[in-house]
Amino acid sequence: MTKQFTTILDPDVVRDPHPVLTELRSSAPVVWDAQVETWLVTRHQDVKSVLADPRFSRDRRLTKFYTPPEPGTWAAHHDEYTMNVADDAQHRRWRKQLSAGFTPRAVRRMEEQVRAVVSQFASPLIGRSGTVDLVESFTNPIPNTVISRITGIPPYPGEEDRFRQLGQDVIRQFFPMADAENKRRGEQAMEELAEWIGKLADERRQEPRDDLLSDLILGNQGEDAMSNSEIIMQIVVLVAAGSETTTLGGTHTIRLLLEHPDQLARLRADPSLTRNAVREMLRFDFGGAGSMPLIAMEDLEIGGVTIRQGDMVMGSVASANRDETVFDAPDQFDITRDTREILTFGSGTHYCLGANLALQELDCMLEGALEFLPEGARLVDDELEWESIGLMRRPVNLPVDFG
Ligand code: HEM
Repeated sequence: MTKQFTTILDPDVVRDPHPVLTELRSSAPVVWDAQVETWLVTRHQDVKSVLADPRFSRDRRLTKFYTPPEPGTWAAHHDEYTMNVADDAQHRRWRKQLSAGFTPRAVRRMEEQVRAVVSQFASPLIGRSGTVDLVESFTNPIPNTVISRITGIPPYPGEEDRFRQLGQDVIRQFFPMADAENKRRGEQAMEELAEWIGKLADERRQEPRDDLLSDLILGNQGEDAMSNSEIIMQIVVLVAAGSETTTLGGTHTIRLLLEHPDQLARLRADPSLTRNAVREMLRFDFGGAGSMPLIAMEDLEIGGVTIRQGDMVMGSVASANRDETVFDAPDQFDITRDTREILTFGSGTHYCLGANLALQELDCMLEGALEFLPEGARLVDDELEWESIGLMRRPVNLPVDFG
């Protein structure tokens, strides 16, 4: 029997949220989590509607667990100046400035760059033998390298690994319920990244290049013009958002396919399934039970439950993606299923700005992996390590035996 739900912080729920989420969808689809002090919404229809509902704010300063960074720091600016936590007109303004860089057409133009980066990391893996950690050698470096090139923010010379770590630290402090250590590291990383981006912004002002930072500086005119701090913060968010999530996606894609050899064989037989295999990974196993906190700005109702103004609500994307009323046999990993209704990139006006880019990167990473993974490659389960970050867990490594 499934254990009674108490909190999304329960280590068993962090490890595998699905038994509890399945139970909640049928018995208590809008449930109060007293430990986190949030409503958890689990049915697809409700999750989709709360994510797109303008009566919720994403301003994390309104949440109960918010501990303000020191005033005047870049971390404090982040909560004032970035689109992911802004609402209404302010959000529209920032999003409009950045959107042009991420349309399907703009992303198609980046394809060559993405392919070049993937090939840089895939080529040395062709013909390898023994056990290889594919996080370290493949899924970790690629997304950060891609976003660095697109935004025009190269790593500190000779310090690629540390630069990547900064991007990842920034995003980790942003995960809901990140612990004090992740917050401290994240805030420190934000200072460093913002300083570095500020320095490059000054250089681009003198000598523009073919990158997003230069475009933002050059195109920044009229009533929507952004201040220097605003430009810096939007780029910090892109560097951070563009690194960790896509690394996680690439790692889960390879892991799930190795864990489901029938699906891997299917993909090898029909590579046109690549995009759908990636989307199925995003449906099947991405993220934990909770998600970004939303704050009700007025009294409202979800699924017959009254939510009061000021209450926190989390739409459980992981649950929505396994809702049996939307996906047949939702607990099966099936790369041929209809994945149109996945909510992993959100819904509504805050829908992930980088979704097109992320999908393109993940497609390329998967294609690259199929080239270097020999037929008999096998996941070394007992060496696979997981770590918990706030409400979710992620694989730290991906040990694969190449034979
Ligand atoms: C597998 C990879 C990714 C996943 C699963 C993902 C998921 C998400 C989600 C769930 C949101 C929030 C939606 C909401 O607030 O309702 C979001 C927002 C955002 N993402 Fe992504 N993301 C990914 C990759 C990327 C990449 C590569 C970039 C960078 C280019 C990016 C940039 C952003 C930005 C800027 C926002 C804020 C959008 C806004 O508030 O309007 N993401 N993403």
